[in-house]
Amino acid sequence: MDFTGHFQAGISNLLCIPVIFMLLPLTTTLDNGLAKTPPMGWMHWERFRCNMNCTDDPDNCISEKLFMQMADHMVADGYRDAGYEYVAIDDCWMTKQRAPSGSLMADPDRFPSGIKALADYIHSKGLKLGIYADMGTLTCKQYPGSIFYLELDADTFASWGVDMLKLDCCYGYEHQKGYEAMSLFLNRTNRPIMFSCSWPACTGYNTDYDSVAKHCNTWRNYKDLRDDWGTVYDVIDYYGNDSVGFSYVAGPGNWNDPDQLIIGDFGLSYDQQRVQMGMWAMMASPLFMSVDLRNINPQSKALLLHKGLLAINQDYLGKMGRRVWKDRANNLEVWVRPLMGIYFWRGSFAFAFLNSNNYGGPLKIQKSLQELGANSTAGYGVTEVFEGKVIGKYMPSDVLTVEVNPTGIYLVTAVPLAG
Ligand SMILES: *[C@@H]1O[C@H](CO)[C@@H](O)[C@H](O)[C@H]1NC(C)=O
Ligand SMILES: *[C@@H]1O[C@H](CO)[C@@H](O)[C@H](O)[C@H]1NC(C)=O
Ligand SMILES: *[C@@H]1O[C@H](CO)[C@@H](O)[C@H](O)[C@H]1NC(C)=O
Ligand SMILES: *[C@@H]1O[C@H](CO)[C@@H](O)[C@H](O)[C@H]1NC(C)=O
Repeated sequence: MDFTGHFQAGISNLLCIPVIFMLLPLTTTLDNGLAKTPPMGWMHWERFRCNMNCTDDPDNCISEKLFMQMADHMVADGYRDAGYEYVAIDDCWMTKQRAPSGSLMADPDRFPSGIKALADYIHSKGLKLGIYADMGTLTCKQYPGSIFYLELDADTFASWGVDMLKLDCCYGYEHQKGYEAMSLFLNRTNRPIMFSCSWPACTGYNTDYDSVAKHCNTWRNYKDLRDDWGTVYDVIDYYGNDSVGFSYVAGPGNWNDPDQLIIGDFGLSYDQQRVQMGMWAMMASPLFMSVDLRNINPQSKALLLHKGLLAINQDYLGKMGRRVWKDRANNLEVWVRPLMGIYFWRGSFAFAFLNSNNYGGPLKIQKSLQELGANSTAGYGVTEVFEGKVIGKYMPSDVLTVEVNPTGIYLVTAVPLAG
């Protein structure tokens, strides 16, 4: 999604929306049984963009071969078994025109077997296929948009065996009604299709989040990430500010989406990659890797597969972590996420300490456990997450002192001890 320009509505004449609107179901949150924990997978966009140069760059162009190779690596290299299940196609898979029947078509040169065959292949690997469409007249890269074809496109995706839809919002208007309608049409296909919306990002951030959660499993609500620390920290700060209160809407089935993981690409130092993985765990974010899995360095791979980080991300309580303290003068902050899953006892926490300075050396942060909300009188077992190092027993009044590298993170879990 290209964020600039979403606020301009293109055309003003919407024909069929009022009829659709009256048929909406009256549930409180989207109930398709999916995304009970944040969805995980691989998505081509940030790393492979709209590369269509299959003649000169056959290994990196957007083609069925790319998705099949990524699926192979997800199985062979342990990503699937760690929980990454979706292989998601983003923009640039279609032909420039719809088929005479009106349905979307995959580019026959780049997807000679078609999407249904690709879905079959992905399913044979124990994975799921994600696809991309757009709520406007055109996709961001100017392929056919879905605004007047929502029902047909939902039916087409279901008939192909698609398991997830990312519905972008370039060249769009009447976003809310469109997303609501598409949610209904996906439901009517009777195929469970995880619905990834771009809706709050299109409507100008200050959205009716209860309505978003009624119709979407995940939703983008801020700018696109680039392969760059500045964009990663910007979204962390936006989520930390949480000025419209969207953190409260997150829970099983419904997740705020700060965008793809750029771990293993070119723009982030190792410390910065740890920040992205650690904070995406704290924020209960969908984890969509966008990296060349055929060629990823071992350190980045280990981060993506890190059991302790994934356990925090996938915690069943599904509560999104929140920033509880920020010293803007010194660029230090602390986040707290309550946990209660199969890996953590009731009353456990994850605490993240961040230093967002891009200069100098490590800085100290000191907080007592009770300042962070951990007040069990029997005390807590505190463990550093990245290295898995046990730090020791802390009572609520004990002060935890950590040193955090520039553009770095220190992450611990605190598990209550028996009384
Ligand atoms: C459709 O919505 C109903 C009511 O919320 C729900 O019970 C059902 O599981 C949904 N089906 C699909 C395929 O999403
Ligand atoms: C295709 O890729 C080749 C090699 O990377 C490059 O020289 C050529 O300009 C590209 N063509 C297009 C149309 O982008
Ligand atoms: C977060 O809030 C601070 C203080 O109001 C503001 O200066 C900063 O720009 C905000 N960050 C983002 C990403 O909106
Ligand atoms: C203990 O912390 C919880 C939040 O973690 C809070 O709701 C509760 O009031 C605290 N109890 C005391 C005695 O401070």
